[in-house]
Amino acid sequence: MRIELNRNRLDQIDVEALIVPVFKNETPTSGLLKHLDELCSGVVSSVFEAEEISGKTGETAYIILPNSTRAIRLILVGAGDVKNYDFTTPGIVAATALRLMAKKRISTGCVLVRDPQKNLDISSTTRLFTEAVEMALVEQDKYKKKEEQFTPSAMLLNFVEATEVESATVEAAIARGRVVAEGANFARDLCLEPGSTLNPVEFARRVQEMSIANGLEFECYDEEQLKTMEMEALLAVASGSEQPAQLMVVRYKGAEDPAAPPVAIVGKGITFDSGGLCIKPRDAMWEMKMDMGGAATVAGTMLAVAKLKPKINVIGIIPAAENLPSGSSYKPGDVLKAASGKTIEVIDTDAEGRLILADALHYATTQKPCCIIDLATLTGACVVALGTLRAALYSNDESLKREINEASQRAGEKMWPMPLDEDYTEMIKSDIADIKNLGGRGAGSITAAAFLKEFVGETPWVHLDIAGTAWLEEHRPEMSKGPTGYGVKTLVEFLLSRCKE
Ligand code: BES
Ligand code: ZN
Ligand code: ZN
Repeated sequence: MRIELNRNRLDQIDVEALIVPVFKNETPTSGLLKHLDELCSGVVSSVFEAEEISGKTGETAYIILPNSTRAIRLILVGAGDVKNYDFTTPGIVAATALRLMAKKRISTGCVLVRDPQKNLDISSTTRLFTEAVEMALVEQDKYKKKEEQFTPSAMLLNFVEATEVESATVEAAIARGRVVAEGANFARDLCLEPGSTLNPVEFARRVQEMSIANGLEFECYDEEQLKTMEMEALLAVASGSEQPAQLMVVRYKGAEDPAAPPVAIVGKGITFDSGGLCIKPRDAMWEMKMDMGGAATVAGTMLAVAKLKPKINVIGIIPAAENLPSGSSYKPGDVLKAASGKTIEVIDTDAEGRLILADALHYATTQKPCCIIDLATLTGACVVALGTLRAALYSNDESLKREINEASQRAGEKMWPMPLDEDYTEMIKSDIADIKNLGGRGAGSITAAAFLKEFVGETPWVHLDIAGTAWLEEHRPEMSKGPTGYGVKTLVEFLLSRCKE
């Protein structure tokens, strides 16, 4: 998609459709809408008179314009309450318009970016705009018979209401936005794959292919090696499946000192989670092909990092396994010795994510990282607590927790800080082993985090439970339903901001 800055006057913008955000309760009696209305012989007012648009987010009105502008179509897009307008809104508007353009076979559009408070951050707005445009039309149609599909070819942005807009700033933001979107889309594609297509070995093959193509170091440990590494927890989860477990390690060295402590990012890579012997109910079991959403985010982030080349060292760690029941499955009541030496009593084979992460997090600590961030579709309890809108944010370090939370706000991804008091660790004490893999009846997402905390030692660590945010059940204006690539934007923002310090 061609994405670029346009500086022309309204009547001189050479695209097929002008795209104009409309705020709630706004009327074409002043400002941009009035100007546009005058230019187009009153068509804008007639749309308002016919109550075709109210400004609600996601709403659209489609109008053919009289001959007074180069563009012959106008798409009005609801932009919500003007009080809530920020650097994320133009991207949502653009994505909404793109859907309509694809349907109507309109090739080129230009969003008139508004700036009602005259305080818009041009760089972040452009970056989020680019990410939204590049991610909007990615659907779950990879395996559908292709009816001839139409994809728009260009989306421009024109800061009509802003005073100073530097081309270099906009161009840099577009370049970065494109790369981040490519990383997120790579993650979405992996997450969409059926469990039988993307098994651990195939997952590793794809991550290796991506790594080699982008100059990243790639290593993958097979079951033999995992045995010597004493990763009993990871191996136990894979024991019911014919597919062997894999531990992928991807390295990016951008810091001046290649031996400088890396940021470690770790992702849960359960390629299919049937629950194992504690088998899940049939209803939504198919969704568990996305139980490698955290791992996909790590892979997508490494791709973006390889292209952006920040001056920092990053190590991506992906434990991958398939959780199935069979005669060779691990069982409730089993005691596993994790690579760290801690023993774990298995209470529920469906609480498998924390087991594979136990070994992966321990491996991360052996790499002497400055911090560890893990992402996992870990608990249904997280979905109950926060739904699909926000991920749950846990940490053993207040400053890192704040840093990640702030990065997520700048990246336009939502999360919510959760407690992790020592008392929660009491809930995973076992009678027979050091800890057990299930807490009590309540606080499911928190006790899962408390379990992970046992494997990071003193290293500053953040855990994101992305069970709700990795997959959308319904379309949103800026994101089609299905896999979201949640986390790539935040991680990239976090890594780049660490380089600026
Ligand atoms: N992969 C699931 C969690 C999940 C649920 C992810 C919904 C995405 C959407 C995880 O492995 C799991 O099964 N968790 C159990 C934990 C329980 C056994 C302690 C759960 O949440 O029910
Ligand atoms: Zn499970
Ligand atoms: Zn799982």
